[in-house]
Amino acid sequence: MTPLSTDPTARARLRWSAATSAIQIEGSRRADGAGRSIWDDEIAKPGRIRDGSTAEPACDSYRRVADDVALVAGLGLDRYRFSIPWARVQPDGHGPGNVAALDHYARVVDALLEAGVTPFPTLYHWELPSPVEADGGWLARDTAERFGEYVALVAARLGDRVSSWYTLNEPAMTTLQGYAVGALAPGRQLFYGALPTAHHQLLAHSRAADVLRDQGAESVGLVNNHTWVLPLRDTEEDHAAAAVYDLLHNRLFSEPLLSGTTPDLEALGLPPLPLLGDDLARIAGSIDFYGVNFYNPTTVTAASPGNDIPFEIVPTPGVPVTGFGPEWPIMPSALRDLLIDLHRRHPGMPPIIIGENGASFPEPDVAGPVEDIDRIAYLSAHIDAVGEAIDAGVPVEEYTVWSLLDNWEWTDGYTQRFGLVHVDFSTGERIPKASYGWYRELVAGAHAARTAGAARA
Ligand code: BGC
Repeated sequence: MTPLSTDPTARARLRWSAATSAIQIEGSRRADGAGRSIWDDEIAKPGRIRDGSTAEPACDSYRRVADDVALVAGLGLDRYRFSIPWARVQPDGHGPGNVAALDHYARVVDALLEAGVTPFPTLYHWELPSPVEADGGWLARDTAERFGEYVALVAARLGDRVSSWYTLNEPAMTTLQGYAVGALAPGRQLFYGALPTAHHQLLAHSRAADVLRDQGAESVGLVNNHTWVLPLRDTEEDHAAAAVYDLLHNRLFSEPLLSGTTPDLEALGLPPLPLLGDDLARIAGSIDFYGVNFYNPTTVTAASPGNDIPFEIVPTPGVPVTGFGPEWPIMPSALRDLLIDLHRRHPGMPPIIIGENGASFPEPDVAGPVEDIDRIAYLSAHIDAVGEAIDAGVPVEEYTVWSLLDNWEWTDGYTQRFGLVHVDFSTGERIPKASYGWYRELVAGAHAARTAGAARA
């Protein structure tokens, strides 16, 4: 590929991070007066979680802040991405902030700062308080206002020490998997009836961005899941099906945010998205960075005639797969291609942060050293793909591994291990895997190159 970047040091300036989210690691679900979230409701549904597990105790991280911060610091990371759950801060989904919970996250932030790592919290990683869902959840416009009130409580407590924030994690997955097909909480199956949740999440993000900036935040963005959509066959029908899936997965959120336009759903035969005048103006330009989470490409084919949904997702032929099997194909070039495509569609876009990238592989549950060469190969190839996108002029500034720790993988329970660190879920013991040492060396090398480049300049 011809290097087009006008800035040859862009690769060397990448920041490095690793990520977790609250329910996936914390345990202690009811500690300090925490309220219920839609995931507690999901766990309570019989047969809903693949291995019958709960998110208790997960990695026991609520009680092991020092252990986790030591692991983050040991990697030499620039930043650590973690999430603050709304239902701990507002147990009833409204009203004053829960002081004990806010104190807890203040301790997390302080421990990171003392370790020389910049805290980079996510304010919503899929854990809607149950009372907010009972009032309509993301189908209700008022949820955007309520999110803003919650964010104001967090910003008032942490805004003096946290300057960069992710508002929402993967709103596309909330819309598609949470409300359209029900694979994630709250498990609704509304199909196109889920589209208003896209509108209300975008509004919630922009409301939160205003609140955070009023409190002095320097950098506010949203992080979405992106995929590279491939038609199974080179036919008109499969290309049309791919265009519909691309719009729903990739463009529903990026276009309002990055271009101030509503994607034309009707042109592809879908119901219109009710994004209206003033809201669109608030949403456009409300980010200082755009977060991209990437795991795998998606291959689609045209659905049989008469099907409500015009596409069908099928295995990607001819590529290796992760611990999820054919559902999660491995194709690093897809990350490069989607970054280049996103930048081509939105040339003036703000910097991109890769907010998550990683893979699960079958690994033993018993505590012991893990030589996770598959993970090292996956991460290394995807970091190279990011480098190629930077060489092609895409403004990527940060790369984040999912995940620091093996953790509780939503409806898949403890069956998928994504960590740089093995966690024994019965004892909480943490054992860094081979990939932990590999990532530490990579980060150290990148920092050394950055320092040497700065000294030369
Ligand atoms: C989510 C994480 C999740 C990861 C792997 C992302 O979509 O943000 O919470 O664990 O994917 O499935």
